[in-house]
Order: sequence, then C-alpha cells, then structure tokens
Amino acid sequence: MKRRVAIFASGGGSNMAALLASMGKDHPAEPCIVFSNDPEAGALSKARAAGVPIAALSHRPFGQDRAGFEAGIQTILQEAKPDIICLAGFMRILTEGFIECWRGKMLNIHPSLLPKYRGLHTHSRALEAGDAEHGCTVHEVTPELVAGPILGQARVVIHPGDTAEDLAARVLEQEHVLYPMVLERFARGERQRVDLP
Ligand code: GRF
Repeated sequence: MKRRVAIFASGGGSNMAALLASMGKDHPAEPCIVFSNDPEAGALSKARAAGVPIAALSHRPFGQDRAGFEAGIQTILQEAKPDIICLAGFMRILTEGFIECWRGKMLNIHPSLLPKYRGLHTHSRALEAGDAEHGCTVHEVTPELVAGPILGQARVVIHPGDTAEDLAARVLEQEHVLYPMVLERFARGERQRVDLP
C-alpha cells in the first residue's frame, strides 16, 4: 500500500510542486493533503490545480498559542491520515509536542549544507563567509531546530561574483531534485543518506 504524504508549505510551493510531480504511478507514496498556515499561499492554488486536497489554518488568530494552532493542524491530519509529513518551505516553528508526535515520520528541506547555517538568510551567510560551496539538506525533524538526522545533501559551487539571488536560484534547482529523491527512498524505508551530485 502506498504511504500517504502530507506536505506543509507557507509560500510559493515550488518544492511542494516538485514532490507532487514526483509521486507518479509506481511511486511508493501518494499525496493526501497539502496544508498551509497561509490561506493565500501559492502552494495551495498549485496543489488544488494538481487535484490534491488542500487545507489552510492561519496561525495569526492564535497569537502566541502555538499549541492551539497545532491542535488545529492535528485535527486536519486526523482526517488526512498521513504516514509521512514533508515540510517544504513551512515557515512556522513547531513545538516539541507536535514534533514528538510525528517523530521519525517528518522531513524538512533546508537551504544550506547543515550543520552550517541553521536559521534564515543562508545564501548571504555562505557568501559572506567566503565559502566555496553551498547547497541544501533534507533531514528528519527532531525537537532541536534543523538538527535531525541528515537524509540527503546536494551541493552547488559558489562562483565569483554570485549574488545571494543567483545562489538561491541554483540551490532551489537542487532542492527540487534532492527532496523527491529522498522522499522516494524514505517511503521505501531507506534511511541511508544520499549525496548529490
Ligand atoms: C526553499 O528554499 C526552502 O528550502 C526554504 O524556503 C524555500 C521555499 O521555496 N525553506 P518554495 O515555497 O518551495 O518555492
């Protein structure tokens, strides 16, 4: 039986779209829902156009009440019944309680070669540090921020004169290759790390 995948996205959803496109007929997983904390997120309209069920719950009315917001997400997930959750540009920090509930079943993509550059502005930080290479990482989500077991990394060379935007675009291309590859393996039960190229 196919593993059911929930994808969480806050923005345009290009990673989400790459994941959806990858889950074809012979894939071990299928999308069961795309969720966003932003009812206006581009990710939701893309998912709807792809015929995938969508759900939105704005975090805003909950203010500091993260647990209340997450209780709302759990209600949505009770119905969608995912086996795997893929965070794909999901811009809310999840509580330990939520993460523990989905431990071993939740993946995230981060635009840096972890453990370098947790947090935001990873492309400009890599440039400012004078790094020769940069990239992206797919990892399991654990309560410590962006620090769970690494399932895959893709590297890009930093060229002289690169701007943060240049680098972001090249890394994003790799994200769209790496995340589907890792999800496919993960859905088959493989936890061994892959490295691209
Ligand atoms: C990606 O760079 C992802 O790694 C980061 O946010 C961006 C999301 O882009 N966390 P998209 O919404 O998938 O296009």
